[in-house]
Amino acid sequence: GKGGYDHYMLKEINEQPTALGRSVSGRTDSAGSTVDLDGFPAGEFEGVDRVHLVAMGTSYHAAMYTEALLARRGVPARAFMSSEYASSPPPAEDGTLVIAISQSGETADTIAAVRAARAERTLVVTNVVGSSLTRECDDALLVRAGPEIGVAATKSFSSQVATLSLLSERIRRDVVGTPSPDAEAFLSALTRLPDQVRQVVESPAAEEIADAFTDSEAYFFIGRGPGHAVALEGALKFKEITYEHAEGFTAAELKHGPLALVTEDTPVFAVFNGGSDDTETLGNVKEIRARGGPVIAVASGDTPDLEGIADHVLSVPSTHPELVGVLANVQLQLVAYHAARRRGRSIDKPRNLAKSVTV
Ligand code: M6R
Repeated sequence: GKGGYDHYMLKEINEQPTALGRSVSGRTDSAGSTVDLDGFPAGEFEGVDRVHLVAMGTSYHAAMYTEALLARRGVPARAFMSSEYASSPPPAEDGTLVIAISQSGETADTIAAVRAARAERTLVVTNVVGSSLTRECDDALLVRAGPEIGVAATKSFSSQVATLSLLSERIRRDVVGTPSPDAEAFLSALTRLPDQVRQVVESPAAEEIADAFTDSEAYFFIGRGPGHAVALEGALKFKEITYEHAEGFTAAELKHGPLALVTEDTPVFAVFNGGSDDTETLGNVKEIRARGGPVIAVASGDTPDLEGIADHVLSVPSTHPELVGVLANVQLQLVAYHAARRRGRSIDKPRNLAKSVTV
């Protein structure tokens, strides 16, 4: 059942600290020195020259997030929508590892991508033991989020990113030969993430923001790097359950076109990573404000100077800049949930959608 919650989605949002804890526990330690993925011992990914990530929907956003993590670790990686990969698979090259990401393990487009792949090895990162993709792929890594019932994927995304964070570090060590320079800080931050997600889900801030923007023309989401993946995911969640027009963009892309849409009736959620790229995102926020667009910054205390620049701040606890996106995403899940609830939408079963797209 819904365990006392009005919707499975809200229950699953609240389960994220536990789900994330399961994804991370036993796989690293609070000192951040180990990466222990059962079935994938050290040396397992030697000889990998590039990684192709294939997925759809929310899992595609986890793929984009992972592309950023791998690139920062010196591992060439590219995220593809499974459907596009299946219709034009890149040519065969030695050393290609295909990683399929799928909560259900049953998504038809992702099965087609794996079948079309001309890769040395395929691996699926999935939430479902014994799913079709675990049979289609050479190897499987479980995200351990627990069953997800709501059509809108929530806890599976957080657990995918946590699991893929560990996998990215494992791959980096095998491919480059050394841990990433800040591996200890990154891995120990991963072990603190469950408690930090708990702080976010206990805060009323997202509901207040949902209530402040009920009659807008459209809702935009921007970010860069991992924050771009989160912006796209924030927009997907919002459109999926509120039926409002929502779009995600890279922060940099705005002035190449989308800025023409920005008015005082288009709130813009700006995701900050809490790292060196915040300065550029702040510049983009100023451009939005100059066109009258209300800005809601989603940021940790490590992003300076938001005071007087953003109209509202949805704050998240400070963590490693590559993990702020996980916390920001939880805030955006809550904004979408409360916005949909206010509008009386069918939150767990939005119109026209199914939990897994098997055809
Ligand atoms: O089971 P999968 O992760 O392969 O599903 C992929 C998408 O169909 C799924 O993420 C979909 O976009 C969700 N409804 C998003 O909330």
